[in-house]
Amino acid sequence: MSKKSILFVCLGNICRSPSAEAVMNAKLKQHHLESKYRVDSAGITGFHAGEPADRRMQKHALARGYNLTSISRQVRADVDFEEFDYIIGMDDQNMIDLKSLTNSNEDLAKLSRMTDYCSEYSYDSVPDPYYGGAAGFELVLDLLEDACEGLISKIENE
Ligand code: 4NP
Repeated sequence: MSKKSILFVCLGNICRSPSAEAVMNAKLKQHHLESKYRVDSAGITGFHAGEPADRRMQKHALARGYNLTSISRQVRADVDFEEFDYIIGMDDQNMIDLKSLTNSNEDLAKLSRMTDYCSEYSYDSVPDPYYGGAAGFELVLDLLEDACEGLISKIENE
């Protein structure tokens, strides 16, 4: 059976989406599902391509046991819509930008937003923490932990 593949997308791929990748990998491990999934992340922009995750995000994530190891890359419209089953954005602008990259209804059907999978928190986006303080980074992790559990349940029950 081929792996289910998930691409998390935010603006810069240095805060929210690399954290989503790490939280998802950790949750998949806890559920003994890691061999069934391929998880990656990317940015709408390539402004931070080649860089590790933001130091502040790394610090907050590590305090919860998530080691952010991924290196930023830009979304590759042609390849990513072929390779991934689920392409998941973090906020309104990510969804607008991702939609503009689709070429078919099949591409469009792969898109969803991270907060759709939350059950504890009622937010309609994972807010960009880049220009804020510590609370913003903690909120990102709270929302991602909630959403990753919901996403795993959704996919495993499909
Ligand atoms: P991310 O956060 O989209 O969660 O990675 C940001 C990273 C960088 C910038 C904005 C948001 N920036 O303006 O450089």
